[in-house]
Amino acid sequence: MQWGKQATASTSDLRDSFDDVSLHFGVYFNTRILAAVRLIMADRPADLPSGRYFPKAFDGSGRVAEISKAMVDPVARQCGLFTALLLECKARAYANGIADLFISVVDTDRIRRFLNVEGFQEIGTPFHFEDQTISVQDQAILLWNRFNTVESIETISTRQDHILSKAQSTLEPRVDS
Ligand SMILES: CC(C)(COP(=O)(O)OP(=O)(O)OC[C@H]1O[C@@H](n2cnc3c(N)ncnc32)[C@H](O)[C@@H]1OP(=O)(O)O)[C@@H](O)C(=O)NCCC(=O)NCCS
Repeated sequence: MQWGKQATASTSDLRDSFDDVSLHFGVYFNTRILAAVRLIMADRPADLPSGRYFPKAFDGSGRVAEISKAMVDPVARQCGLFTALLLECKARAYANGIADLFISVVDTDRIRRFLNVEGFQEIGTPFHFEDQTISVQDQAILLWNRFNTVESIETISTRQDHILSKAQSTLEPRVDS
């Protein structure tokens, strides 16, 4: 994965101005970080990392949030950690009174299917994602989730607990602390 605009010597080379205003979430196994994501909350879409890729006709009103720079350690993939972090972002956005949540991802059938099941729908047209530090050559899409009252913060958190406890048993033999 070569998404950095410049050669990156360390993760701090990927920092951008959104990091100062983001909520950062991680999944740790003892002291080792296995998965991370950031959530940016803003007054309007233009102030999100994917702001420039919103369709002109987007008619949402109120505050918005974006899930950004999700990353899972290869040793811990396919255990649900990304799903658990996505649920954390959903719960935090909703707890902050934000009904409209967005994510930009590289466009694959698999991730579309997964995000559709999680309540996200594609909006706008495909684009090549670029921000202050990364530039992605593969085609990306923007997806939108609007808070649905059937899915309460409690149900999200129960599901998240279930995913994380299952992941812990799977990862125990795999990961050295
Ligand atoms: C994409 C990524 C975050 C998934 O993490 P994960 O913890 O393995 O994901 P989960 O186990 O929670 O699975 C959730 C969904 O993620 C997607 N996913 C998982 N691994 C993936 C991969 N290698 N490539 C693309 N999508 C992937 C799938 O849609 C999966 O659902 P499915 O198994 O029902 O198809 C991880 O592979 C990664 O860090 N990739 C590199 C960075 C990246 O692409 N980040 C996404 C930016 S938004």
